Amino acid sequence: MLKAVQWVDASLRILDQSALPRQVVYCDCHSHHDVAEAIRSMRVRGAPAIGVAAAYGMVLGALNYPDAVSGGIPCGGLAAWMDKVADDLTATRPTAVNLQWAVRRMLCRFSELTRESGGSPDFIRAGLLVEADRILEEDIEMNRSIGRYGNDLIPTCASILTHCNAGALATGGYGTALGVIRTAHESGKQIEVYADETRPLLQGARLTAWELMQDGIPVALVTDNMAGWLMQQGRIDLVLVGADRITANGDVANKIGTYGLAVLAHAHQIPFYVAAPASTVDLSLASGEGIPIEERHPDEVRCLGGDPGAPEGVRVYNPAFDVTPHRLITAMVTDRGVIRPPYDETLTAALGGKPLSA
Ligand code: MRU
Repeated sequence: MLKAVQWVDASLRILDQSALPRQVVYCDCHSHHDVAEAIRSMRVRGAPAIGVAAAYGMVLGALNYPDAVSGGIPCGGLAAWMDKVADDLTATRPTAVNLQWAVRRMLCRFSELTRESGGSPDFIRAGLLVEADRILEEDIEMNRSIGRYGNDLIPTCASILTHCNAGALATGGYGTALGVIRTAHESGKQIEVYADETRPLLQGARLTAWELMQDGIPVALVTDNMAGWLMQQGRIDLVLVGADRITANGDVANKIGTYGLAVLAHAHQIPFYVAAPASTVDLSLASGEGIPIEERHPDEVRCLGGDPGAPEGVRVYNPAFDVTPHRLITAMVTDRGVIRPPYDETLTAALGGKPLSA
């Protein structure tokens, strides 16, 4: 199985997604700073994958203490250092809640391990690694459940439009939206995928098309502005995307362009599905208005594949995500089952009433 991240010899090995599909290369992160850089530069990307990477970043932070701190033991000791590591990791990308969720979970485990061991650094380090491994394994399990539940929504012969990359590359493994597509394909259904190229960073073209081709799942690449025409021509049976954050009322932040697809799907009466694990749900936010939307460097829009695609210095607005209002979402596929409107009731009920990100 394709692995976006793996723990190898006391370091985190990341499949460098910025180099795909030109090259399959890996970079090894030896410190939490390396992990933060890999997340910021999107060598590792996708909401669940950056959560998993950050969990291992916390392990690296603990392993490097106190050597990483000039002048020896920092004021406030290991606990203060781990708070700093957590802040460095969560400051990298603001929109996907999985990142904060994973870091908070690691900090909670750190507190428990500190209490259990009386503060033994070796005991704490070993326990943190076990927790990060657990987060990774649970993510893969959640994706497999999403795949099983989501498969019930897929007709035996279906043409599916997806956006960005919500695959194995974006998760611990298997994928959310692509997990559903994988399960449907594995169960013998005749699946054909249209992958939006996903400007400006081309996650659809570079990653989704590549990932599906590796598995022999039929895929056709289209530019983002073709979606309306495809729907009008009756070529799309359903739209299926991932998510970076889902709020209590069912609003969904996902890759920029998702909202436009939801509007188009609504206009053409095509089902619009979102697939995501429980770690993407943020019940502490009432609606999508509260979701911080990351803005990225203007050069990502100015350049096309590294070449200038616009006049030098042209002003650019580059939001990396948008928010799709809950009323446009037909159903959400989670690891707890398929959830349908009214989301302000069903999401909370499915997730046990506990704000997962708190
Ligand atoms: O900016 P990216 O590539 O990290 O954005 C990723 C997405 O928007 C994905 O659709 C989302 O994280 C879901 S991944 C299972």
